[in-house]
Amino acid sequence: MIIQPRTRGFICLTAHPDGAHQAVKNQIEYVKSEDEIKNGPKKVLVIGASTGFGLSSRIAAAFGSDASTIGVFFEKPASEGKMGTAGWYNSAAFEKEAHAAGLYAKSINGDAFSDEVKKETIELIKKDLGQVDLVVYSLASPRRTHPKTGVAYASVLKPIGQPFTNKTVDFHTGVVSDITINPVENEEDIANTVAVMGGEDWKFWIEDLKAAGVLAEGVKTVAYSYIGPELTFPIYRNGTIGQAKNDLEATVPVLNDLLKDLNGKSYVSVNKALVTQSSSAIPVVPLYISLLYKVMKAKGTHEGTIEQMQRLFADRLYTDNGEVALDEAGRIRVDDWEMADDVQAEVAKLWKETTTENLSEISDIEGYRKEFFNLFGFQFDEIDYEKDANENVQVPSIE
Ligand code: NAD
Ligand code: NA
Repeated sequence: MIIQPRTRGFICLTAHPDGAHQAVKNQIEYVKSEDEIKNGPKKVLVIGASTGFGLSSRIAAAFGSDASTIGVFFEKPASEGKMGTAGWYNSAAFEKEAHAAGLYAKSINGDAFSDEVKKETIELIKKDLGQVDLVVYSLASPRRTHPKTGVAYASVLKPIGQPFTNKTVDFHTGVVSDITINPVENEEDIANTVAVMGGEDWKFWIEDLKAAGVLAEGVKTVAYSYIGPELTFPIYRNGTIGQAKNDLEATVPVLNDLLKDLNGKSYVSVNKALVTQSSSAIPVVPLYISLLYKVMKAKGTHEGTIEQMQRLFADRLYTDNGEVALDEAGRIRVDDWEMADDVQAEVAKLWKETTTENLSEISDIEGYRKEFFNLFGFQFDEIDYEKDANENVQVPSIE
């Protein structure tokens, strides 16, 4: 089958397995080109392992530190005439590359919020690895069914208090326009978003893993957060999703308590704004990312998810002296290059000037678009998209 991109807004309905394989290979090559991560993790569980930061965490651990990895994700394999999802193809490619390199890699496809998937994961750890020494929590989801009550929560992306008006871009057409997003109408929208993207499920995971005895002495766990510039505060950090991030960050001391007798530690890492399936869904943010990319590429400080996760492991979580640098609120910061004063000042200046007419000149909208299509395995020079794709691709450990 010939597979071409088919988009609906910020969603791409198709994915290219060979392109996804190329994307994974490129990330592996990057990690191999860097120094080995000394004292790195050896047995790693990644929750949300199929795309974005989670996939890159898995690749950095496996190929930077020879780690055995178990990945948990929620993806679809190909079925009668329908393609699989990008994350499915990424995971198939990851496992194949890991196995070829002699590394243990198995995956679990299912709802990470459920008790069943937690149980299944624990059984797999017990059977194959005994214990894990790193747990990466990288879920991004619009909904969660609570495992204890069965209540289904849906998150919303809205400001709190006042309406928020700012520029936004349709990254397909390059049209810049003003958008007004109305604030949440009730506290429930906030609570629902916290229930989906806050720290409760991370806590459930760590509680269950600990109770099962599958966390190693000195275990670390890390989850990902975002802060970003003032111009996105109303929709991000001070909006509903920001409340969920506050809750996630407030879970760190709770988990530190829980892990104390194992000499374990929990962290939140604040990562850089990047093109992923999740971030493309947030209004205003794609325009910010397009300007940010332009400025950071010009300065030579641009990073993608794999560069970010390599730096998180090598320069933050697993340093030579064992120390983990934290900010005043106790968080790891790998958004430091994004938040540098000179970068932010330039982005803020460009932000004011941006129009539909000058967008392609003053922003990296082309880079944004390319990365968006890359997420789904498209627009890789190495792939001949006129050729039949190898669509019946399976994740070796699952099928
Ligand atoms: P992503 O959409 O690329 O990845 C989400 C992952 O979660 C996928 O592996 C998906 O399969 C998995 N997932 C979703 N629902 C699931 C479920 N019910 N069960 C099992 N797996 C499920 O997103 P991302 O951008 O990599 O986000 C990961 C984390 O990083 C999030 O906490 C996000 O807020 C944070 N973050 C993102 C950015 C950014 O700019 N993209 C910046 C900083 C922090
Ligand atoms: Na992820």
